[in-house]
Amino acid sequence: MRNLYLTIEARIEKIIRETPEIKTFLLSPKEPLEFETGQFVQLTVPGVGEAPFTPSSSPHEKETLAVTVMKVGRVTEALHKMKKGQKVGLRGPYGMGYSLDEFKGKEILIVGGGVGLAPLRSLFLTLLYDINKYKQVLLCYGARTSRDLIYKTGLARWGQEERVELRITVDKGNRKWRGRVGLVTTLLDNLTLDFKNSIAIVCGPSIMMKFTTLKLVDLGFSPKNIYLSMERNMSCGLGQCGHCMLGKYYVCKDGPVFKYSQIKNIPNPFV
Ligand SMILES: Cc1cc2nc3c(=O)[nH]c(=O)nc-3n(C[C@H](O)[C@H](O)[C@H](O)COP(=O)(O)OP(=O)(O)OC[C@H]3O[C@@H](n4cnc5c(N)ncnc54)[C@H](O)[C@@H]3O)c2cc1C
Ligand code: FES
Repeated sequence: MRNLYLTIEARIEKIIRETPEIKTFLLSPKEPLEFETGQFVQLTVPGVGEAPFTPSSSPHEKETLAVTVMKVGRVTEALHKMKKGQKVGLRGPYGMGYSLDEFKGKEILIVGGGVGLAPLRSLFLTLLYDINKYKQVLLCYGARTSRDLIYKTGLARWGQEERVELRITVDKGNRKWRGRVGLVTTLLDNLTLDFKNSIAIVCGPSIMMKFTTLKLVDLGFSPKNIYLSMERNMSCGLGQCGHCMLGKYYVCKDGPVFKYSQIKNIPNPFV
């Protein structure tokens, strides 16, 4: 088995500027780096440091791996300055992915906010790969403004797929925007799902995760059917250093995907 501490060199093959703050990097690792959707990798920018990211590509793409990264600090700013052809390091994958077996035959509701759509893109593409296994996939996505929407080309295509419904909203509209305006939680109004038997998956800023989860519970979703992609500061990625504790859990090892039933009794789980 491959040593999960070892860093694999990866070449930047392509860079897509999603928004002024968010870029997608298509990377080709020198050695195969297979992952399950929902797991994360530690990415090193040489001479700067490393940070955790959940791949935004499908695990079925074996040659390349994509990460979609928002510029917020030291490592992410350095990564945003890198060019096609330069090298980064990757180690992992770490953590647990989604229990896709539990999704079979069900209606799946995916709710993403901002750059939180990145890990969900990987999940969505994984579901799309085997779409006949699921009853329906409803993808709800919200961003601050239309300028902040990521994967614009993908979004235009995904809504046309069979068994897929796409709902998009922005917090603040402008003259050019013809779509919905309102917080992402407003996309959950008028849903016609069998709430008790459906699965919901949520990823986004803490405040969005909190209010979306509370609304899902109000609608009738069982906490064991709500999956949350949680973020904490990471160091080792292997359950050794304790940097990423969430109650009794290590986010790096037991997560980053948790069922709401696992964490709902932890004080302020979304902070
Ligand atoms: C499992 C997991 C998956 C993730 N997946 C993704 C993903 O797919 N895409 C993605 O974009 N992110 C993702 N993240 C978040 C990402 O790891 C962090 O954004 C990244 O670690 C930040 O590293 P940095 O060195 O750029 O920022 P740091 O320099 O460590 O800064 C981190 C925080 O400090 C704040 N900060 C930085 N500099 C200053 C300053 N001078 N003054 C005040 N505040 C400051 C920033 O606002 C930021 O919130 C994920 C995190 C986890 C745990
Ligand atoms: S990052 Fe070290 S224990 Fe999770």
